[in-house]
Amino acid sequence: MKHVGSSVFPFALALLLSFSWATWSHTHENFLQCMTLRSENSSSTSKLIYTPPNSSYSSILQISIQKPRFSTPATPKPLVIVTPSYVSHIQAAINCSQTYGFQIRVQSGGHDYEGLSYVSDVPFVLIDLINLRSISVDAENNTAWVEAGATTGEVYYRIAKKSKTLGFLAGVATTLGVGGHFSGGGYGTLLRKYGLAVDNIIDAQLIDVKGRFLDRESVGEDLFWAIRGGGGASFGIILAWKIKLAPVPSTVTVFRVNRNLEQNATKLVHRWQYVAAKFYEDLFFRLRLTSVNASQEGKRTIQASFISLYLGVIDKLLPMMQESFPELGLMREDFIEMSWIESILYFAGFPSDESLDVLLNRTSPTRSHFKAKSDYVQEPIPEHGLEGIWQRFYEKEGETARALMFLTPYGGRMSEISEDATSFPHRAGNIYKIFYGVFWEEEGTAASERHISWMRRLYRYMAPYVSKSPRAAHVNYRDLDIGSNGKGNTSYRRASRWGNKYFKCNFDRLVQVKTTVDPANFLKNEQSIPLFSSGWKKGGD
Ligand SMILES: Cc1cc2nc3c(=O)[nH]c(=O)nc-3n(C[C@H](O)[C@H](O)[C@H](O)COP(=O)(O)OP(=O)(O)OC[C@H]3O[C@@H](n4cnc5c(N)ncnc54)[C@H](O)[C@@H]3O)c2cc1C
Ligand SMILES: *[C@@H]1O[C@H](CO)[C@@H](O)[C@H](O)[C@H]1NC(C)=O
Ligand SMILES: *[C@@H]1O[C@H](CO)[C@@H](O)[C@H](O)[C@H]1NC(C)=O
Ligand SMILES: *[C@@H]1O[C@H](CO)[C@@H](O)[C@H](O)[C@H]1NC(C)=O
Ligand SMILES: *[C@@H]1O[C@H](CO)[C@@H](O)[C@H](O)[C@H]1NC(C)=O
Ligand SMILES: *[C@@H]1O[C@H](CO)[C@@H](O)[C@H](O)[C@H]1NC(C)=O
Ligand SMILES: *[C@@H]1O[C@H](CO)[C@@H](O)[C@H](O)[C@H]1NC(C)=O
Ligand SMILES: *[C@@H]1O[C@H](CO)[C@@H](O)[C@H](O)[C@H]1NC(C)=O
Ligand SMILES: *[C@@H]1O[C@H](CO)[C@@H](O)[C@H](O)[C@H]1NC(C)=O
Repeated sequence: MKHVGSSVFPFALALLLSFSWATWSHTHENFLQCMTLRSENSSSTSKLIYTPPNSSYSSILQISIQKPRFSTPATPKPLVIVTPSYVSHIQAAINCSQTYGFQIRVQSGGHDYEGLSYVSDVPFVLIDLINLRSISVDAENNTAWVEAGATTGEVYYRIAKKSKTLGFLAGVATTLGVGGHFSGGGYGTLLRKYGLAVDNIIDAQLIDVKGRFLDRESVGEDLFWAIRGGGGASFGIILAWKIKLAPVPSTVTVFRVNRNLEQNATKLVHRWQYVAAKFYEDLFFRLRLTSVNASQEGKRTIQASFISLYLGVIDKLLPMMQESFPELGLMREDFIEMSWIESILYFAGFPSDESLDVLLNRTSPTRSHFKAKSDYVQEPIPEHGLEGIWQRFYEKEGETARALMFLTPYGGRMSEISEDATSFPHRAGNIYKIFYGVFWEEEGTAASERHISWMRRLYRYMAPYVSKSPRAAHVNYRDLDIGSNGKGNTSYRRASRWGNKYFKCNFDRLVQVKTTVDPANFLKNEQSIPLFSSGWKKGGD
């Protein structure tokens, strides 16, 4: 089967004409029969296949969908959901999807910003890895095997149960699936000290498009390189990662101080750009920018929140901050000492008395509508440039706590790792990364368009101040605008444009690896790594 699109036409047509119950039950029957035939663990296959007539289909689909914008009645739904319990189930699901000409989408945590792990406009099978999430921590050797369906919260929890002085460097949110999250880099509060999740992966297990079970040794260095930063979904289905755990002190210090425009926020943010990436690497000093109501009725201001983690005690941090950033006026009362695992709860926004069990909860606290983008900053933005950002936050869509930017400092370990050591390329030369997010509750396309177009205006405004040639972006902050005609319509021909933004100099090698391991382009989504074609042009802008 060369091209998924052509062989599925009858199914697509049937879908459009709306499946009858009989058609569904036929699909179910066929797929189940195929799975049972192909799976070594055939006795259990009947309990892991869901088609729409099944009363559990919707709830299974909903559990992992984190972005309601991609779960409206009009959103295309999977023909079949498979929730594998064993490797052989995944192998069978790949074989049977190919046999019936269905595309597959793989989901670990379901956080993809554009819903690519559970939405496709061709008939598809959703492989949901929710049942493959065991974690085994080896505290003696400072390593762990984590299955792809585990969340970051579960990883932190299991490590903390074994040791108070070991942690791992992954995302701040605790509901991210390690299958998708690590594939695109995976950064958190330890990035300046130890780099990204991908910098600390020492082995992996995956199933390739032929259904073969591979590990680091059998996978070869090219593919092992590609899956560490090249984004999920292009090269195979990741089953598990072996990670190197990170030593952390038994006491760490956090602080969060807010300064608004009346408290010199503009000057402080400007100054922050000169210090944050140069600090001692034990300090993660992040900025969150948002607009808030000022004390007077109806007036708004910009709030800069300086949020930090220091791998040490207050007595060491306080003099350091007073010396290198006296303008912020930090005092002893601003700091809190805690254990590293408590700092995970703190950064994820949980109250300080919350039980660690909250880390095992896979449901995101917020399920608002949402659009995000990213940028990398290499030269400090001048004060007048910052003031232009504030103007955009004062527009209706930027209103109180509904839009925000996170500025995450680079430097430290991030600058020491070469651009091609893994397929994640954003290293030395970046002062910080920007995350832009806008959230809304109103339903309907009009509200979506209004908020998304606000985000696009802010992004256009930022162009002079951020990285150029290419204007780099973070693949884990997936954005289908990149490489599209500006209306979210992605043209496949423009793949090299987003490819160069996400992967920079590593894009060509990713294309080569993809062409070798999946020559029929079976694993494909709107921004998967494309096959080599002589027509590729190096991207710009
Ligand atoms: C609230 C929130 C906070 C975040 N914070 C951070 C942060 O601090 N640091 C950071 O780096 N990122 C952060 N992210 C971004 C996050 O890393 C990405 O959204 C990531 O892709 C999520 O992975 P997932 O498995 O949950 O998502 P999914 O939607 O399941 O997967 C994402 C992509 O990977 C593919 N994929 C998933 N599992 C596999 C697998 N097993 N094998 C092959 N391909 C697979 C999917 O098909 C999809 O294309 C945050 C996102 C959110 C929503
Ligand atoms: C729904 O699907 C599950 C998993 O395959 C199965 O165990 C269950 O019996 C089905 N329920 C109905 C009502 O068909
Ligand atoms: C089949 O299931 C058994 C447990 O019942 C498990 O030990 C074995 O690894 C499974 N085989 C495969 C290939 O997944
Ligand atoms: C599925 O597996 C069978 C048995 O191993 C094999 O003959 C067939 O070619 C496979 N189909 C696909 C599409 O890979
Ligand atoms: C640690 O690694 C060694 C060598 O690989 C191994 O023999 C030992 O069993 C490991 N320890 C644990 C607790 O697994
Ligand atoms: C703002 O900065 C000026 C000096 O630039 C200083 O005099 C003033 O005290 C600062 N205001 C606050 C609230 O920190
Ligand atoms: C901010 O002010 C607006 C208008 O005065 C009000 O509607 C809104 O609820 C306020 N938001 C918060 C978080 O106080
Ligand atoms: C898990 O988190 C969600 C969202 O915050 C919450 O609604 C739910 O009650 C939590 N579940 C448990 C078991 O605590
Ligand atoms: C996307 O745009 C191209 C031309 O730019 C057009 O041919 C195509 O039909 C559009 N696709 C969708 C899904 O809108």
